[in-house]
Amino acid sequence: MIFLFLSGMEMGDILKGFWGTDMKGYATTAILGILCILAITVMGCALTASDGAKLFTRERCIYCHTFKGQGATIGPDLTEVTKRRSDSWIRDQIRNPKLHNPQPGMPGHEYLSTKEINALIKFLKS
Ligand code: HEC
Repeated sequence: MIFLFLSGMEMGDILKGFWGTDMKGYATTAILGILCILAITVMGCALTASDGAKLFTRERCIYCHTFKGQGATIGPDLTEVTKRRSDSWIRDQIRNPKLHNPQPGMPGHEYLSTKEINALIKFLKS
């Protein structure tokens, strides 16, 4: 935050100082550390297969589909669907099933976030 109070020139000098001296090693370590923390944060925010399981119920998929012996049979059994279909095909099917069938038997879930759809796919792979 202190950088906010320095002009661009000063920051440039400071950085040049860093890279020209022994500080280079420390600065590299610090930057890598920050990148690691960011990566862990992003990974920690990703939804898991068990979040996907909750969505499978919340979004009523389970009222039409069976997964591993549980659910209904209005739509196809999804137990092995990730072996038959690619992730992007399934993503399209969940968002907008009209892409695959002009009169689809299931509603579109275009309001779900990419994170949520990925969690559903993780669940279907579990
Ligand atoms: C109202 C019933 C219904 C709901 C709710 C529903 N589906 Fe479907 N789904 C179907 C039917 C029927 C099909 C077969 C394709 C068609 O008729 O359009 C299908 C097809 C699919 C397929 C492709 C299966 C295959 O073998 O090709 C996937 C994947 C899928 N649904 C996932 C979901 C997910 C995930 C949800 C919840 C977010 C969901 N569906 C909600 C009825 C439903």
